[in-house]
Amino acid sequence: MTQDELKALVGQAALQYVTPGEIVGVGTGSTVNKFIDALATIKDQIPGAVSSSEASTARLKALGIPVFEANDVGELSVYIDGADEIDAQGHMVKGGGAALTREKIVAAQSRRFVCIADETKMVAALGAFPLPVEVIPMATARLVRQFDAMGGTARVRLKDGAPLVTDNGQHILDVTGLRISDPLGFESTVNQWPGVVTVGVFAHQRANVCLLGTSSGVKTLNF
Ligand code: 5RP
Repeated sequence: MTQDELKALVGQAALQYVTPGEIVGVGTGSTVNKFIDALATIKDQIPGAVSSSEASTARLKALGIPVFEANDVGELSVYIDGADEIDAQGHMVKGGGAALTREKIVAAQSRRFVCIADETKMVAALGAFPLPVEVIPMATARLVRQFDAMGGTARVRLKDGAPLVTDNGQHILDVTGLRISDPLGFESTVNQWPGVVTVGVFAHQRANVCLLGTSSGVKTLNF
């Protein structure tokens, strides 16, 4: 099976976690796009979605799924999103699509985080994927030095030769060379640094369930 087929498989499998009559939290990325396509087939059963990015909002609306503002709804029963890395405890690295801050906000608003991913995303320890960090641009140079002091190399993510601007109007640093042996502690520490909007480690908002697409089908991991 191709990676794209594995993504479609887990996107479809995630429908079992959608509660009829309830608003669903929707993440961002190519795997979530498959979930949104699947969600459209049962759109008459749900009031709509809370979205974690302008890209997902556009796709949801194009498929006729109403999108609610996070501030206008209460707690959500489920948030469904992909990951760049996930470990055996459900800790994740996210933000490859630059939507990490809104993803963490909607995840925090939800009782259960269902991660959908193909098997290449499962890792023994977080840190091989360049860690995305959303930052306020005036803090960039100092944050690069702080990551350097930690043994990491931080680079501003570019798009068409200029710094990528997130949905929140900020920039992304991608940090390589880090060993994230304590995801909870690491997330707390980096989130305290002035100028950091959100670090892409999701340990406090870890996954409760992972639907992992494998060549032998969908494997369900409960954390
Ligand atoms: C976007 C994310 C995505 O969930 C993550 O990058 C995985 O994306 P994909 O499903 O395309 O591999 O965190 O900010």
